[in-house]
Amino acid sequence: KWTPLAVIENAIEAIRAQVGDEKVILGLSGGVDSAVAGTLIHRAIGDQLTSIFVNTGFLRKNEPESVLAVFRDEMGMNVIYNNATERFLDALQGKTEPEQKRKIIGNEFIEVFKEEANALEGVRFLAQGTIYPDVIESASGSKTAHVIKSHHNVGGLPEQLGFELVEPLRDLFKDEVRKVGTALGLPDHIVWRQPFPGPGLAIRCLGDLTWDRLETLREADAIFLEELEKAGLLVGDTAQCFAVLLPVKAVGVMGDLRTYEEVIALRAVQTQDFMTADWVRLPYDLLAQVSSHIVNKVKGVNRVVYDVTSKPPGTIEWE
Ligand code: XMP
Repeated sequence: KWTPLAVIENAIEAIRAQVGDEKVILGLSGGVDSAVAGTLIHRAIGDQLTSIFVNTGFLRKNEPESVLAVFRDEMGMNVIYNNATERFLDALQGKTEPEQKRKIIGNEFIEVFKEEANALEGVRFLAQGTIYPDVIESASGSKTAHVIKSHHNVGGLPEQLGFELVEPLRDLFKDEVRKVGTALGLPDHIVWRQPFPGPGLAIRCLGDLTWDRLETLREADAIFLEELEKAGLLVGDTAQCFAVLLPVKAVGVMGDLRTYEEVIALRAVQTQDFMTADWVRLPYDLLAQVSSHIVNKVKGVNRVVYDVTSKPPGTIEWE
């Protein structure tokens, strides 16, 4: 019979057998897969594991803090934190073309990770949170799978670094990964975290990528998620909800004054497999609440719109 505890026991044994007394590094993203892989490996080999957590500057509000609080403080793992925010912003200056942005972010990520990895001595293994569907998708070579792979599992890193791979989740489906995560004591906000693209908020901040505009987006996004959570509508499994900052200015009125500011688009989709998706019929009252909250609290935004496009023809993300 399949139980999380049996999976954990087997995985720990397999990791110990593979790794011996060698050192392992892992890229922590804050996502459920790398979180569960890291926790399992840490159970198996303790301080032989070092995790590297890169803050691209494109994470959501409070995300870096919460990742460090869970893995460094609660789990007691060795976590190297690299705040590469400025470096990513510099690399993306003046870039607005979506594919170019993705490529720059992917390459920059590999560079930062490589620098951290090379600074550690005597590492033999690289751990990844590859799960069974990733294995299948990359075998079938579909375009989406390729994009997701190249960010999510930092494709290309093993070859570039010359490490051997440790992939304790290779046989597991997503729901099994979550069960294992819960059994390992990971908090719900990690276990049930919504999918989040590797390039993060960079592909939800359309137009000029500046720190101020990213902060605007982060605030608006946090308000949307908070209201959804309060309404009990933030189910992590098959839904994705987020804000997008548009490179468009609109005229508005605040008190007696004319405003001329940017527009936030809200997106909430329901999906089984991320290949197709439908927009969620959120209650009007909730949308009203989110809209007034955002316009009143977030600097630089005077209008909120709701995206009513399904996939296809839209994609889930705007870029
Ligand atoms: P689209 O926008 O193609 O997104 O409908 C489908 C799913 O994939 C996620 N996504 C990514 N995930 N790296 C990732 O790890 C990426 O570069 C990336 N781009 C899109 C998206 O959030 C959605 O869940």
